[in-house]
Amino acid sequence: MTIDSQSLEAGHICLSIVAVIILYAVLLIVFVTYSLFFLLYSHVPGPRLCKLSRHWVTFFDLRRQRPEKVAEWLVKYRLIIHVALVEVSIADSFAMRDIYSSSRRHEKSHYFDHFMTHNERSISADIEDRMRGWVVAVLDRIERQLACTESIDIFPLFSHFTWENFTSLLWNNARFNLPPVYKLGKLIGMVFTRFRNTQRISGAASDLNIPLNHSLLRRLHELEYVDGKTLSSDYITCGVLDNLHAAQATVTVSLTYVLYYLSRNAEWQDRSMEEIDGLPKEVDGFPSFATINAAPILEACIRKAYRLNLGSSGRAERAISFGKKYAGVFLPENIIVSASTIAFHYNATVFPSPSMFDPNRWLETSPEQLRTQGMMFIPFGYAARFCLGKAFATLEIKPPVAALYLRYSTHVDESTGMTTKESMRQAGTQDVLLKRFKMRHSFRKAYLDDRESTS
Ligand code: HEM
Repeated sequence: MTIDSQSLEAGHICLSIVAVIILYAVLLIVFVTYSLFFLLYSHVPGPRLCKLSRHWVTFFDLRRQRPEKVAEWLVKYRLIIHVALVEVSIADSFAMRDIYSSSRRHEKSHYFDHFMTHNERSISADIEDRMRGWVVAVLDRIERQLACTESIDIFPLFSHFTWENFTSLLWNNARFNLPPVYKLGKLIGMVFTRFRNTQRISGAASDLNIPLNHSLLRRLHELEYVDGKTLSSDYITCGVLDNLHAAQATVTVSLTYVLYYLSRNAEWQDRSMEEIDGLPKEVDGFPSFATINAAPILEACIRKAYRLNLGSSGRAERAISFGKKYAGVFLPENIIVSASTIAFHYNATVFPSPSMFDPNRWLETSPEQLRTQGMMFIPFGYAARFCLGKAFATLEIKPPVAALYLRYSTHVDESTGMTTKESMRQAGTQDVLLKRFKMRHSFRKAYLDDRESTS
């Protein structure tokens, strides 16, 4: 090959490369222009990168910062913003009430397919006495731990408590019926196969040692439609697993934060203690659930904790079935919408100094302000697909908190350096667990001792 033909060939290669680069540049310009200005939803405000690629929000997903980031964008841009190609997030209460209302019937988005099991999507008694037994068991455990140490790591304790509660509700006794589930918890994704699930669940359902009215699972198996058909085993299994996911982390996280805020706010801890102490007691020494549930100070403190830290991720996505204008922004059919719980709960107009723990907001407030706050307060979702487990969650949260403060006062153990702002930061987009589970509370018997010495 001569030098001329070699340089000619090199020239061709260069030209081809330049042509490819130009082609890509043109395609990129067309793509960017089309995405930013001509798509059906390009008028929705929001970060430009979110309009170009769904990976920008995924980047925050991977860093476990999605809920905070979306709330931040909502403050920066508007009440309705673009977060990914066909996804928007909202912080407008009228839009939220309309989109989530029962009459609209907007379907949950494909995001919820993540929680499918056995190829099914889930929809998702007298239990007070049993709950009191579990509360006593937790107190006993605290008592035993306090015999050896001054401080207790409360998060794993609550995590076991909520797991036990919910598996008990389903199977009556998880330890007895499902010991392998305990052991294989960490490997669940890999080894929990259809066959094993079905086998265990039908085994638990047919266990005649469990009274019918103590097993939701058996009730589900025995349920019949008017035409005599029963629910499929896959459908029941999926519902069971979905509820386990929904029931455990949410309550554990909520319990942990309720105690955290009460431990950090001595005044509110004292007021709650005084209130609980003044409630009439049953024979076991604890107030009834009805009286605990009606105690306004405890309720206000718990609400405050729910507002400041989410129990659930807030990815309550809906695929809207028809286009409509909300807060001046038209949202076309099929776009995915979710309300940002953080943006609602930290709305500074409705909750001035939103990061402050101030239960008075729910106690010494005008009816009008209470109504406005209520409209922005959505820890358990809203309307059509409102949390099915709220009543059970309340039963799991209020009695143990009341029982604890009847016996102990608490404070955050600063000495170990384990509880820091960072360790208490919630991270995640499917769950909202603390980043590190290292919160410690010190349970001191001071209050009990005081009472004993004065009695
Ligand atoms: C403090 C604890 C809890 C919080 C903060 C919480 C929060 C939520 C939220 C925000 C939703 C709505 C999701 C959406 O709109 O897409 C929801 C739905 C749901 N929750 Fe909870 N939850 C809690 C405890 C529980 C418990 C203990 C159970 C089970 C016993 C449970 C079962 C469910 C189910 C089955 C749904 C789906 C309802 C549906 O799709 O129609 N949750 N929860």
